[in-house]
Amino acid sequence: MSAAALPRLLAGADPHGGATLRAHLDRHGLAAPTEVDPKWLVAEVERAGLRGRGGAAFPTATKLAVVGHGRRRPVVVANGSEGEPASAKDATLLAQVPHLVLDGLALAVVATGAGSAHLCVAAGAPAARDALAAALAERAAAGRDAVAAELVAVPDGYVSGEESALVHLLNGGRAVPTAVPPRPFERGVGGRPTLIQNVETLAHVALIARHGADWHRAIGTPHDPGSALVTLRGAVARPGVREIALGTSLESLVAHGGGELARSRGVLLGGYFGTWLDPTEARRVTLDAESLRTRGASLGCGVVAVLPADACPVAETVRIVRWLAGESAGQCGPCVFGLAAIADALEQVADGRARGRGFGRGRRGDDPLARVRRWCGEVAGRGACRHPDGAVRLVASALKTFDADFEDHLRNGPCGACARPSSFPLPQFGGALEAAA
Ligand SMILES: Cc1cc2nc3c(=O)[nH]c(=O)nc-3n(C[C@H](O)[C@H](O)[C@H](O)COP(=O)(O)O)c2cc1C
Ligand code: SF4
Repeated sequence: MSAAALPRLLAGADPHGGATLRAHLDRHGLAAPTEVDPKWLVAEVERAGLRGRGGAAFPTATKLAVVGHGRRRPVVVANGSEGEPASAKDATLLAQVPHLVLDGLALAVVATGAGSAHLCVAAGAPAARDALAAALAERAAAGRDAVAAELVAVPDGYVSGEESALVHLLNGGRAVPTAVPPRPFERGVGGRPTLIQNVETLAHVALIARHGADWHRAIGTPHDPGSALVTLRGAVARPGVREIALGTSLESLVAHGGGELARSRGVLLGGYFGTWLDPTEARRVTLDAESLRTRGASLGCGVVAVLPADACPVAETVRIVRWLAGESAGQCGPCVFGLAAIADALEQVADGRARGRGFGRGRRGDDPLARVRRWCGEVAGRGACRHPDGAVRLVASALKTFDADFEDHLRNGPCGACARPSSFPLPQFGGALEAAA
């Protein structure tokens, strides 16, 4: 895939503050969103094969069409909450290319016939918030949009950016998920059908409106076309946000960042709800849905975190799972108690407290790891939102990929690497990373 066709989303990105409306129009030459035919736009987004970039990869055209078909005027929400601590792509996009996202948001308003629009941005991302405030003021002065988007700060938290949590927040509540149904597309903000799209997805919509579906499909794979933003971090010399053609090999991306998969301990793909790949598997995959699905993985929200050779995958997994358990919104029993129990058990395996309570491979039903595996199955699908599902996906993939390491900790307690300070990204918010060419 030609690297020369990139960047697309990040073309004209200004690391010193958001590109101005003038610079944006000079670069992209986008028509005013109000001049675009809604039916044409939805059909073009469908032909482009665009899927959401917020994690679940749902077809965007389907959402646009469904929300736009009701009798009540819909609401559109741009999701720039970026609750995933290892990800910096949305904050980078918003801070450096705000008008592309705002064009996408305005186009979604046109495509659905919406009467109001909200732009949700993480409270812990001040550069993004400032760039958006300035960009919104410029657009209001230029009369570019039919509907003025409202900028909304979303409290930091892993589940704050979940779609029903945003609806709850915009309806005057806390940013915690609510029991579903109805889904936001049925009854969301103000009881109206509500379209919620990740900000990167909206930026792609803007470029598809400008250049068409064939242009979008000119890079990527036939089943997973276009480009995507990824956050590369961990054991690489040059971490940062990059735009890749879908179908790019993981090995070449990591090499571009100054890392070497063969010398790593593995890769966490897709963030804290993601999948661990060992170095051998990681060297085989390309970053597109089809290739990753065969390994039970997905690009998720685009995090590619390379685990250093001297790190302990057991200790790192336990830290993330403990943190995810603490991020439960505290509403659903299986999520609150199940994730805490899984974190407790894994912690005991990692720090040696479970030593001697495992009986080896011959009697796995008796050992703490078998219990964790069983609990993962019992927790999945049992919450009002998919937080527990994402957390146990990470646990299951860690137990599979690092099976020997977990067994070793169960039998022998902490390894040498456990005691070393971690150089892997800690679960924390507001970790800004530069966009890298
Ligand atoms: C626990 C949880 C947290 C989420 N956090 C985010 C987030 O921070 N940003 C985001 O865009 N989507 C997030 N999502 C996904 C959203 O619910 C929703 O699917 C997405 O914003 C839809 O946009 P897309 O179709 O453009 O991907 C989260 C989902 C879950 C289950
Ligand atoms: S599943 Fe967990 S995070 Fe989701 S609503 Fe229930 S308690 Fe909150």
